[in-house]
Amino acid sequence: MTNRASNGFHYRRSVAEIDLRRIENNYRAFAALVPEATFICPMVKANAYGHGDNEVAKALRHAGAKYLGVALVEEGETLRRGGDRGPVLVFGPADMGSAEAMLRENLTPVVSAWDQLEALEIAHAELGTSRVSLHFEFNTGMNRLGFEPHEVPKLKEWLVKMAKAYRLDGVCTHLFSGNDAGEASKYSDAQLSCFAEIAASFPDVIVHALNSSGSVNIWKRLQDSKNVPASARKPLGLRPGIGIYGVNPGNDENAMIGLKPVMSVKTHIISLHRIAKGDNVSYGPSWTAERDSVVGTVPFGYADGYRRALSNKADVLMRGRRIKQIGTVCMDYFMIDLTDLDAEKPVKSGEEVVLLGEQGREQITADELAQLAGTIPYEILTGISDRVTKTYLK
Ligand SMILES: Cc1ncc(COP(=O)(O)O)c(C=O)c1O
Repeated sequence: MTNRASNGFHYRRSVAEIDLRRIENNYRAFAALVPEATFICPMVKANAYGHGDNEVAKALRHAGAKYLGVALVEEGETLRRGGDRGPVLVFGPADMGSAEAMLRENLTPVVSAWDQLEALEIAHAELGTSRVSLHFEFNTGMNRLGFEPHEVPKLKEWLVKMAKAYRLDGVCTHLFSGNDAGEASKYSDAQLSCFAEIAASFPDVIVHALNSSGSVNIWKRLQDSKNVPASARKPLGLRPGIGIYGVNPGNDENAMIGLKPVMSVKTHIISLHRIAKGDNVSYGPSWTAERDSVVGTVPFGYADGYRRALSNKADVLMRGRRIKQIGTVCMDYFMIDLTDLDAEKPVKSGEEVVLLGEQGREQITADELAQLAGTIPYEILTGISDRVTKTYLK
């Protein structure tokens, strides 16, 4: 186990433990869904969904990932500084400010608008780099990024004109409702059949469209379906994000396809208070003792990514048991009700508390915290702040 502590917070014992073996396991679970040569581009944007991009990138390359995906040019630069030399697709726009860095670092632009092509042309003329590999993104209904389908002929003309400087390696789109793929996948099917026509206009390039939920829900059905145009049956590439980090990307347990949660958040009791019935806990107060109680203080707050919306709602794990969080979550701390646990055996300062992950037979998932906080697991994972030291299991 190595302790990164590069964030400077190396005294505190509140850690996010990242199991890189599970990153590899989860990548392989996606790879097992599709024929061998299918394009798979695991997403390591947003610091690998809060897990540490350089470490996750190394684990993914080790597991066989040929491509990695980021949102920002800066994220691509971070991977290069960390020593990654493989293909990295940048899904966010290259603009006049970032196109040069994109080309200098040999990152692969996923271009979604004409002004990005202009920025790349200028950067390419200035730097005189070798032929640039590009992907085009198309808008098939999400209305976020992407060329419109009717722009295909113009883009093809551009490619012919610029053939010396640019090579199109892939076309893609992004699903906005990947887990609508039950029996009637109305949004995703519409997007994919629109995309199939676009893909048919670019017969020799990689086509990719499926995020984690799309991958587990649609891939198989699409390959078997007789209603899907032949052009769409060309193996559709995957771009799994959240599933790589072990969050269930689908609507039921089958969608787990062997995925395992990667991040655990662990800390410990730093203070104990014996309070009388009627005493209050934390700001507000939003919790009042209904009996004489033992209150434990946990050094982890909303500035660490434990959301204030969890106040009086979440559980933590101690001694393999669920314990109630009580009172309002503070910036650096929250409190838990240790009355019953302490009655069994007195609780001591320093005892381990698990906020996310497994302990004994119990488990707290990012999904559970997200539901309690009224958000999505993506926000829980990316929200674990840089104050929390990451520890890596390899
Ligand atoms: C373009 C693109 N592809 C793939 C993904 C991965 O999605 P998910 O994390 O739902 O698998 C994202 C994430 O939002 C994305 O923006």
